Amino acid sequence: MMLSFVSLLSFTLLFIHGGSTQPPFACDSSNPETKNYLFCQTELPITQRARDLVSRLTLDEKISQLVNSAPAIPRLGIPAYEWWSEALHGVSNVGPGVKFDGTIKAATSFPQVILTAASFDPYQWYRIGQAIGREARAMYNAGEANGMTFWAPNINIFRDPRWGRGQETPGEDPFVVGKYAVSYVRGVQGDTFQGGKLHGHLQASACCKHFTAYDLDNWKGTNRFLFDARVTVQDLADTYQPPFEKCVRDGRASGVMCAYNRVNGVPSCADSSLLFKTLRGEWDFKGYVTSDCDAVAIIHNDQGYAKAPEDAVVDVLKAGMDLNCGSYLQNYTKSAVLQKKLPESQVDRALHNLFAVRMRLGLFNGNPVPNPFGNIGMDQICSPEHQILALEAARNGIVLLKNDAKLLPLPKSTMSLAVIGPNANSPQTLIGNYAGPPCKSVTPLQALESYIKNTVYHPGCDTVSCSTGAIDKAVDIAKRADYVVLIMGLDQTEEREALDRVDLFLPGRQQELIVSVAKAAKRPVVLVLLSGGPIDISFAKDDPRIGGIFWAGYPGEGGGNALAEVIFGDHNPGNNLLIPSIANKMLYDQ
Ligand SMILES: *[C@@H]1O[C@H](CO)[C@@H](O)[C@H](O)[C@H]1NC(C)=O
Repeated sequence: MMLSFVSLLSFTLLFIHGGSTQPPFACDSSNPETKNYLFCQTELPITQRARDLVSRLTLDEKISQLVNSAPAIPRLGIPAYEWWSEALHGVSNVGPGVKFDGTIKAATSFPQVILTAASFDPYQWYRIGQAIGREARAMYNAGEANGMTFWAPNINIFRDPRWGRGQETPGEDPFVVGKYAVSYVRGVQGDTFQGGKLHGHLQASACCKHFTAYDLDNWKGTNRFLFDARVTVQDLADTYQPPFEKCVRDGRASGVMCAYNRVNGVPSCADSSLLFKTLRGEWDFKGYVTSDCDAVAIIHNDQGYAKAPEDAVVDVLKAGMDLNCGSYLQNYTKSAVLQKKLPESQVDRALHNLFAVRMRLGLFNGNPVPNPFGNIGMDQICSPEHQILALEAARNGIVLLKNDAKLLPLPKSTMSLAVIGPNANSPQTLIGNYAGPPCKSVTPLQALESYIKNTVYHPGCDTVSCSTGAIDKAVDIAKRADYVVLIMGLDQTEEREALDRVDLFLPGRQQELIVSVAKAAKRPVVLVLLSGGPIDISFAKDDPRIGGIFWAGYPGEGGGNALAEVIFGDHNPGNNLLIPSIANKMLYDQ
């Protein structure tokens, strides 16, 4: 690689300047070359700037930029960039782009999406997106993130209730899911609630995933790499595509992720009809398309759809995919070009989309202060406003399923309370998957204790899977208390990425525990279910000894307090009797 002394020096200055808290921005004015580069001239159209930049790259440099961990190009003053970050319901450290090991240790953890969706409140969804986008930008500005492209929302239709990732989605209704997508994306990207005011700039970049017809992870020997979704043209149009169309057209999302699975035999990331004809053609998509992680490798290795690795590379780039999460394109693009299977123009096409998004994020404008989002400071992260919003979202999502004989709310004058269940005191259960470290954590048990001093707790089961337990001990404390609250349900050991359920029953001996406790208690008990996917509770529905039932999703960092508030009547959940998976009627107008 040719490095002139001057550009090496100025590149180094760019990073030393401001110390470790200075985020990397290309086109810094301290680099004397900057004024000669068209791609640095902010008054030019971004398409022209991106073309100029790509035209300056060697083939090897180009190929290096096709994967999620894009290295620096020092001779042009371009810093490294990490495309993979996650922010499903709060800024997360699941992807490599964001870490919480510096000055920032936590971010606001909103409820898992399936619970947030249950408020049916698009303005609340927008405000959550906005808060996440602000916290994300604040982390970047503080030098604690090396990417601003977040791979959320997950807007696959939750059609199979056993799907381990259903918790990440806004449910099974294509209309609700589309509405959620638009609100979240506008919020994260810095648009207004009504949309259309971005003028190209991005606060942070959102990504509609996983395109398309993905709702199986690992079920009875079939995994998502091998899953071939057989979908009729009508079902695709009625069910699976509307959320993506809204996410792109109305939300103006700047990213889309193609899924692992095949749709009617064709891998999603190699489907030009999907990526070119529908997405860019019909829906006017202007952003970048990333693969799910290692979704290119599987086209050859697992699916056998491509005969050689180079064919997989050709298939995805010609289909309109731009970025590979993984290293497959780094390894096999050069040989595809040398074997004359792939014209270099296909690589350029992808890079134009990729650099355009980085430019829209303001990362090629030098010093970030003139950028509309350059002033967002660390005070945004875990701000009181955002934490109240997380609490509100939990309150407004929790669903009251049963309240017989006016059992609820429980009196605050209760003399003694028994809290039972493996989910009562687990901070981890509250935040679900794709979470980051929460600003603070109050478990349901701790929150209930703040209402009733004389609270006794027993988990009843060893874990949520409840293969063994101490049902007798739980029965014992239930007998002696005025009121009993059972906090049961699922967690990530029962439903998660790469793990679907095989039935809808409570795991292990949970049902036995609930029934035994209810039998022994002085009064009818309150049952709280934490879960993403639905649970069959027919046994509890008509049992008069189970007087109250709540579904509380995975309610996030405010969830413990929200639950205690609804149980003791400080928040009325009575206007929320719908959950996304049973809703067919919207409470708001379009
Ligand atoms: C790409 O090559 C590197 C180095 O040889 C290897 O570690 C990696 O597994 C390869 N990636 C894929 C997806 O084949």
